[in-house]
Amino acid sequence: MKILFIGDVVGQYAAKKLAEFLPGFKRKNNIDITVINGENSANGNGITPFSANILLPVSDVITTGNHCFKRVEMNSMYDENDRIIRPHNLGEGVRGKGYSILDFGKHKFVVINLMGSAFMQPCDNPFKAIIELLSKLDTPNIIVDFHAEATGEKKAMLYMLASKVSAVLGTHTHVQTADEQIFDDHTAYITDVGMTGSHDSIIGAEKEGLVNRFLNYVPTRHIEASGNIQINAVMLEVIPETGKASSISRIMNLI
Ligand SMILES: [Fe+2]
Ligand SMILES: [Fe+2]
Repeated sequence: MKILFIGDVVGQYAAKKLAEFLPGFKRKNNIDITVINGENSANGNGITPFSANILLPVSDVITTGNHCFKRVEMNSMYDENDRIIRPHNLGEGVRGKGYSILDFGKHKFVVINLMGSAFMQPCDNPFKAIIELLSKLDTPNIIVDFHAEATGEKKAMLYMLASKVSAVLGTHTHVQTADEQIFDDHTAYITDVGMTGSHDSIIGAEKEGLVNRFLNYVPTRHIEASGNIQINAVMLEVIPETGKASSISRIMNLI
């Protein structure tokens, strides 16, 4: 099975460009499953039903992260739609689901969203949370979106989950790393998939305001930059009988 995983989409313009780009790309590369991190796909931060509805027709699962509950209009969508997930380790009683099951009859794939604990908002221990969750799942085909800031925390997650899941894919920093690998001859890994958003920007946002904030301490809003869109993603191949990832390749496309 070929899986395409798209890094954090920043802003509605990028979401629309991605939605136009994906059908042809998926056909050409025989993609079976598409996962998109959509936590920043709305204009002005977070995800909204409007931006989610741009991405839903071209994806199987939308993952999120620390911005999952930024927008109040999104509340009911987490309850109603199994294909949009938020970090699993947000604690008991929180709306929405932390994982999504894709049932292909003969094989099941599970996409799990987890959030890191270092330099992020408070959450349950992601390591303990995923050990507990894995004990309940009955498929070897497991893709983890580990939405985390610290590179060390992401590598620790890889080493703990090596041979137990098909992929540990880092998101959140919006900067793609060049360390994609198959670890233990089983688990695909990259520290950060990167972002899908304006190339000429500061992690997807308009530059001038952010520079002014660093220079002069002027509070500023993140305004989605425009212009060329970069698509950051990884493509994986997973053998569904064993859950083994046999390849991972990094994508950095300008459209
Ligand atoms: Fe993000
Ligand atoms: Fe994030």
